[in-house]
Amino acid sequence: MRTFLVCLWKMTAFQLCPRGPKKKLLLALLVACALSPVLKYVNVVSNVVSDVISPWRNIAFLEEMPDFGEDTSQTKTTGSKQLCPKKAPNLVGVSSINESLVTLEGLIGKYISSRTGGHFKPPECVSRTKTAVIVAYRNRQRHLVVLLNHLIPFLVRQQADFAIFVVEPLPNVTFNRALLMNIGFVEALKTYNFTCFIFHDVDLLPVTDHNLYRCGATPRHMAVSNSKLDNISFDEYAGGVVAVSRDVYQHVNGHSNLYFGWGGEDDDLLYRLQWKHHPMSRYPPAIGRYIALKHADDKGNPVSDIRLALLETAEKRMAEDGLTSLKYKIIHREYKPFYTWIQVDIDMKYYSSMVSKWQQKQH
Ligand code: UDP
Ligand code: BGC
Ligand code: MN
Repeated sequence: MRTFLVCLWKMTAFQLCPRGPKKKLLLALLVACALSPVLKYVNVVSNVVSDVISPWRNIAFLEEMPDFGEDTSQTKTTGSKQLCPKKAPNLVGVSSINESLVTLEGLIGKYISSRTGGHFKPPECVSRTKTAVIVAYRNRQRHLVVLLNHLIPFLVRQQADFAIFVVEPLPNVTFNRALLMNIGFVEALKTYNFTCFIFHDVDLLPVTDHNLYRCGATPRHMAVSNSKLDNISFDEYAGGVVAVSRDVYQHVNGHSNLYFGWGGEDDDLLYRLQWKHHPMSRYPPAIGRYIALKHADDKGNPVSDIRLALLETAEKRMAEDGLTSLKYKIIHREYKPFYTWIQVDIDMKYYSSMVSKWQQKQH
């Protein structure tokens, strides 16, 4: 190491040290060091360019990969209707995202749900999926409307049998995304036999409808390429949008209920899935690409300062912190034309005492 540093110093002073291949190697290292900030910049720029041109570029349809498995519960039909084809005929691939659609007027008349609460089914065939999209939500009205305008036509094109559930806490409590997801899961199952759950941020929009909102045997991280994270994919990230089958979600006891404030809850779910041997699948980034709507930090959702401590006990908590310990009160439930809105009251004392219990166990 010392020789290397001395050598680098000499070379930078334009003096010659080793000759031949060693010198070339050192020169290459120097060039790489000098270029690394430039390369990072090039990567970010190329992702931005790719986002800009993506509406005009079409990506080949990718059938379910073998490791995603098939949603076997959906391969049988009853009655006279045929099972929908694997590739829905109306898929368009990449489509543009219209952030100026801030009312639901465009959907009215064009899309008619088969049941109240925005439950849609393809009229022409039996869908290959029964998908519930769960959105943890508060005070993001514009994002919600933009999302609905994008996602409803998107899911109709995919011939999904689906409904969207928007779960909102009262204003007085710190936001807890994962707890709201658990509530959405339980409440959705009270209305229909959904077999596939997509836990979805309100501000993420899938760029191509080849990104199928279905579940296989393994869970799938959908938001592989998130514009908010410079579209850089990494295996440790499982946030934003994730698809988990009903059975797998129950097997890991859902999300943890204890992450109040921003961060950690998605990492915790990833750990649960890993520990219960449900490895995360991912589409390639060109398919799992999402545009993130811009926003300021939310009031009532401060960065959690105990998230790392909670992650340390994630495995031990899994059996008793989740669906099995869920407690909430429904304040409002409204079956709206395009989604089901559920407002809930959360007993902070109940959950805070659990957090304290785990913190004490740690010491
Ligand atoms: N969220 C919300 N209202 C809030 C805070 C969060 O609706 O006050 C929901 C919303 O679905 C959002 C998700 O929680 O997309 C994740 O929060 P945020 O967008 O702040 O996280 P990011 O991924 O942008 O860091
Ligand atoms: C947080 C996650 C978040 C990720 C990307 C992590 O540090 O714990 O909740 O999704 O960063 O923003
Ligand atoms: Mn966001």
